[in-house]
Amino acid sequence: MQKEIVVSGIRSTGNLHLGNYFGAIRNFIKMQHEYKCFFFIADYHSLTTHPVPADLHNNVKQVLVEYLACGLDPEISTLYVQSDLPETAELYLLLNMNAYVGELERCTSFKDKIRQQPDNINAGLLTYPTLMAADILIHRALKVPVGKDQEQHLEMARQFGNRFNRLYQIELFPEPYAFNYGTNLVKIPGLDGSGKMGKSEGEGNAIFLADSPEAIRKKVMRAVTDSGPTQENQTKPEVIENIFTLMKAVSTDETVRYFDEQYNGMKIRYGDLKKQLAEDMILFTAPFREKILELSKDELFIQKIARQGAEKARESGAATVREARKAIGIRSF
Ligand code: TYM
Repeated sequence: MQKEIVVSGIRSTGNLHLGNYFGAIRNFIKMQHEYKCFFFIADYHSLTTHPVPADLHNNVKQVLVEYLACGLDPEISTLYVQSDLPETAELYLLLNMNAYVGELERCTSFKDKIRQQPDNINAGLLTYPTLMAADILIHRALKVPVGKDQEQHLEMARQFGNRFNRLYQIELFPEPYAFNYGTNLVKIPGLDGSGKMGKSEGEGNAIFLADSPEAIRKKVMRAVTDSGPTQENQTKPEVIENIFTLMKAVSTDETVRYFDEQYNGMKIRYGDLKKQLAEDMILFTAPFREKILELSKDELFIQKIARQGAEKARESGAATVREARKAIGIRSF
C-alpha cells in the first residue's frame, strides 16, 4: 500500500531554535518511519527578507546540518533544498493566477511582516502563502507537521488546491492538513515576553540548538518575569506561564511540579527557576550541538545528501507540475 505523503519546511534564515524543534522537527523525526516524507529548506522563502548573497548558501548548509543532527534520516526521507526543485517556482506562478490579492492581504503573517519590515513590503511577502502552497501541493501531501503559527497558511493551501481542482475539473491536489502527534499544534514562547520564539524576533528571544551553555545561561537569566505572585494559587500572568511552558518542554515533570508548587505557595524565587531552566535547556540541546559541530566539518557528506535529496524531490515534483500544465492547457510544440 502507498504510504501517506508528508511535506514540511523551515526557512533558511538562521539556526534552528527550540520553537522549530518542538513545533516541527520533533514530528519530522517520528513521522519519517511511518510516512513518505519530504522535508526541505525554504531558501526561496528566505528571499523575502533580502539575505546577503554571500551568506545564503551557508545558511542553507547550516539548516541542512541541523536537520541531520536532529535525527532526520536522508535514506528514508527526502531531504532537499527548495531551490533545487525549481518546479516549485513554476507551480507557484500557476497558483498565483488564481490567488486573490484580497485574501493574501488578509493573511496574519503578511500583516505582521508589514509591521516588521515597513520599508520592504515586496510581492514575495504578499504571495508567501502561495509559495508555501506550491511546496505542499507539488508532492500532493496530506499531512504537514508545523507549529501553530502556520495554521492559516495550511488553510490557504487547501483553498488554492481546491480552487485549482474545481477550475480545471481535475482531482490533482488532495487537501493537506497541519499535523502534530499531540493533536494540538504547538506554540513555544520566546524569552522576551513576546509570546513566540522566533528568528525574526529580537536578540535574546530564542534558544538555538547550536547555542553554547554560556549563551543559554545568559539568555535565560535575562528572560522577562514579573515582581512575583501576590496571592496563593493565582492564575499565572502570560510572561510567567511562558517560562513554565518552556520548562515543560525541557525539564522533568518533577521539576515542573516543584516550581509550580513554589509559585502557588508564593515561595518562588525566579532566579532559581531560571537557573534550573537554563541547566535543563543545556542538557537538552547538548547532544544536538555536539552533532552539529561534528557534521559541519563533513562537506562531502553534506553535498552528497543535498544532491540525493534534489534528485528524489524532482522525481516527485516534476510529475505534478507536468499534470498541472496539462490541465491548464499548456502544451509544447
Ligand atoms: P519557519 O521557518 O518560521 O518555522 C519552521 C517551523 O517551525 C515552527 N515554529 C514554531 N513552532 C512552535 N513554536 C514556535 N515558537 C515556532 N517557531 C517556528 C513553524 O510553525 C514551522 O513549522 N513558512 C514556513 C516554512 C515553510 C513551510 C512550507 C512549512 C515554507 N514552505 C511548506 C511547511 C510546509 C516558515 O516560515 O516556517
